[in-house]
Amino acid sequence: MSRTVYVNGSFVPEEAAKVSVFDRGFLFADGVYEVTSVLGGKLIDFAGHAKRLERSLNELDMAAPCTMDELLKIHRELVRLNEVDEGLVYLQVTRGAADRDFVFPEGVAPTLVLFTQSKTLIDSPAAKKGAKIISIEDIRWGRRDIKTVQLLYPSMGKMMAKAAGADDAWLVEDGFVTEGTSNNAYIVKNGRIITRQLSTDILHGITRAAVLRFAREAQMEVEERPFTIEEAMDADEAFTTSASAFVMPVVSVDGAELGDGTPGPVAKRLREIYLDESQKVAV
Ligand code: PDD
Repeated sequence: MSRTVYVNGSFVPEEAAKVSVFDRGFLFADGVYEVTSVLGGKLIDFAGHAKRLERSLNELDMAAPCTMDELLKIHRELVRLNEVDEGLVYLQVTRGAADRDFVFPEGVAPTLVLFTQSKTLIDSPAAKKGAKIISIEDIRWGRRDIKTVQLLYPSMGKMMAKAAGADDAWLVEDGFVTEGTSNNAYIVKNGRIITRQLSTDILHGITRAAVLRFAREAQMEVEERPFTIEEAMDADEAFTTSASAFVMPVVSVDGAELGDGTPGPVAKRLREIYLDESQKVAV
């Protein structure tokens, strides 16, 4: 079945959706994106994703294609048209189409594209099994707090994990874990949840913010600081967070099994709390 996608003001069948070959997203990766999950036909934490999108646009001096209220309407309409009960909405804004020049063009309308992906997210077999992680060097650019579409290295990282018989990779810079290829990274030791503090080194995960808030409300101890792969290999458990996988337990790091090699209690509890609480306020 063909999906309906959104391109620059129109809802069209995916075969009819077109973007210019001169689009700066295509030529320069001059674009930003958001991924918002859908559960029970409703958007999870839309306000958080809209706020981060505005921040990404501001940091790159890129024009917003419309107001955030209009964006919410487009998201909802796309979910309705595609009858998405569980899945994701992908949104991308680029600086628009202009003759190829490194200098930012002026007076060009931004490109706005959205599409949906129906997908089982809650009853995911991967979350039941837990993820095996390998570590790789973090050689991405220095503004990882901006959610740009420059995803080649994260994509290569997933391929390195696959080649090693693992599920995902954690990125290491100057001896410390920054984050996962497409998620934020956490370890748990003696009941304490440890995750790197916010800076330009990592993406400020919307799921991260919610999960840390729920953890603190549940009287769990949270420490925001960098940790090493050696600490992770010696942790009681570990997990990642992202809009597409919520809280994903990690069962091994660089071949070292954590705990009994199955998803740990803290990750499982946080996953349940996150799924309950985030659905209560979904829009
Ligand atoms: N990725 N860090 C990176 C590098 C990411 O790409 C993501 C999200 C996160 C988690 O952010 P959030 O909780 O807001 O989803 C952290 C999305 C899901 C993706 O690229 O598909």
